[in-house]
Amino acid sequence: MNRSHYCARLSAQDIGQQVSLCGWVKRRRDLGGLTFVDLRDSSGVIQLIFPGEDESLGEGHTLNREDVICVSGVVRPRSEGNVNSEMVTGEIEVQVEKLEILNRSLTPPFLVEGDGSDTTEETRLRYRYVDLRRERMQRNLRLRHRVFHTLRSFFTDNDFVEIETPVLTKSTPEGARDFLVPSRFSPGSFYALPQSPQLFKQLFMIGGMDRYFQLVKCFRDEDLRADRQPEFTQLDLEISFPRGKDEVFALLEGAIQRTFRDLLSVDLPTPFPRLTHAEAIARFGSDKPDLRFGMEIIDISQVVKGCSFRVFSEAVASGGKVAGIRAEGCAGYSRKQIDQLQGVAVRAGAKGMSYIKVKDEISSPLSKFLSKESMRGIIEAFSAKNGDLILILAGDGIEQGLGELRLAIARKEKLAREGWNFLWVTDFPLFSLDEQGHLTSEHHPFTSPHADDMKIIDESPLCVRSDAYDLVLNGIEMGSGSVRIHSRDMQEKIFRMLGISQEKAEERFGFFLHALEYGAPPHAGFALGVDRLVMLMAGEESLRDVIAFPKTTTGTCPLTDAPMPVDDAQLAELGLMRKG
Ligand code: AMO
Repeated sequence: MNRSHYCARLSAQDIGQQVSLCGWVKRRRDLGGLTFVDLRDSSGVIQLIFPGEDESLGEGHTLNREDVICVSGVVRPRSEGNVNSEMVTGEIEVQVEKLEILNRSLTPPFLVEGDGSDTTEETRLRYRYVDLRRERMQRNLRLRHRVFHTLRSFFTDNDFVEIETPVLTKSTPEGARDFLVPSRFSPGSFYALPQSPQLFKQLFMIGGMDRYFQLVKCFRDEDLRADRQPEFTQLDLEISFPRGKDEVFALLEGAIQRTFRDLLSVDLPTPFPRLTHAEAIARFGSDKPDLRFGMEIIDISQVVKGCSFRVFSEAVASGGKVAGIRAEGCAGYSRKQIDQLQGVAVRAGAKGMSYIKVKDEISSPLSKFLSKESMRGIIEAFSAKNGDLILILAGDGIEQGLGELRLAIARKEKLAREGWNFLWVTDFPLFSLDEQGHLTSEHHPFTSPHADDMKIIDESPLCVRSDAYDLVLNGIEMGSGSVRIHSRDMQEKIFRMLGISQEKAEERFGFFLHALEYGAPPHAGFALGVDRLVMLMAGEESLRDVIAFPKTTTGTCPLTDAPMPVDDAQLAELGLMRKG
């Protein structure tokens, strides 16, 4: 028997047709002399009915969940009262005339129904081949495919060439640890798996390829979270002779607009809004602000400078800030809830938190320290109304704490509206300080400094802005890119400032520095995290639900048990020895 139709593509229009269907038994019910089986294939589910009196169909009674069968029979309407409006094929059923059991299944580890929350993720991943039959996973992976397809066709239509870059390569600094692969031919030497194809795509520009893109696997050994996997996919691109960052923005906006229109029937307005990094931090306390709700940070330094509460006045006097947010209608928060919020602020580096509950009677620990007039000034600065809660931090670098408080309240109060709030964040600082107090690249060392800030690069490197930009969607970083350095002198200067000696720069990046001397054109590019894009488009909260075979948070694969120890002989062949 060969398949003639997919299960869920049949409809009332096919009534009377002879069909053969193949798939998995979703479930079986025996009722009176009849056996009902829900048959599932990649299109969905249809009800089969096995008439009990027909001997040749006796095996219908023995079917179990996930057995693989092929049936032929006739499509017929369901009897009144048996119509199931929840099912696409709920009006019809197939009266089975012939059954072939293609393969039996062991009792599955979980039901292939619902969203999978009735079992542990470890079990879902161990039996991923069963889990993938779930409608949710089928839908997500099909969406993933269509996102890839749309992006590929968009960039192909825009004269981009997809070119693969090596997987066995040399380290590229993207801020994570490398995965290393030992070389058998050069014992003691290692390839690094690419954290991104950054240098190769720049070499394509030097190589005259003009417009490159690639849907590419990147590998980073870093602590994992719901939106981080050790191997993930980027839509990576680079263009030569760009009309500044605007050309990159327009391309990405076009690609995303087409993807959302074709796959979600959502019309995204473009251009996407832009915020400078400084503005994003000052207004939202984050370089990836969620703009689905307001609650902007309000700076009250000028209002409280010289006030009688020393924490505030001293913060302003020593060059810091006093600022806060107004949580509308949250004056009823309990002591415990306020303490929890204080915990959020402290974990983000704040020394403490002050609050004012604006009610008929003001309730605030600040009342002891502030005059009625100062209190009124603060409440006015926040435009606070009866029922509002004001949270205030004071000191240096308090924005992150306020940003976290803003998010914590928005989560609790479910403030984020439905929607797709894309945003460009521009003008990132070129450098920041690492834990040892050394200059480090905020993006990566190939990012061009902002031309206007070159005059201060030596005396105030931390004040230099870069030509780097991020794309943010609903508070999640979707991608990042920059206009690149294309002169050897500038590239060497940046390496020097990062404390990379000339010798080290030559050893690690010599090939690239030489390439810059052979006619490197101006170029700019971007990398979009496509797993994250698909995750949000699918309405999922974890990358693991949009990747076929993801790793757990400890970097393991429960299906294959990777990573695995290897035996000593294999290590010896690679010139490696086990420690201890
Ligand atoms: P960046 O390191 O910002 O830039 O990475 C670009 C985007 O890739 C996604 N991403 C990840 N997704 C899942 N798991 C991870 N571990 C992970 N790490 C990053 C994010 C991120 O915004 N070469 C530069 C780009 C350029 O300058 O052109 C780069 O890789 O969505």
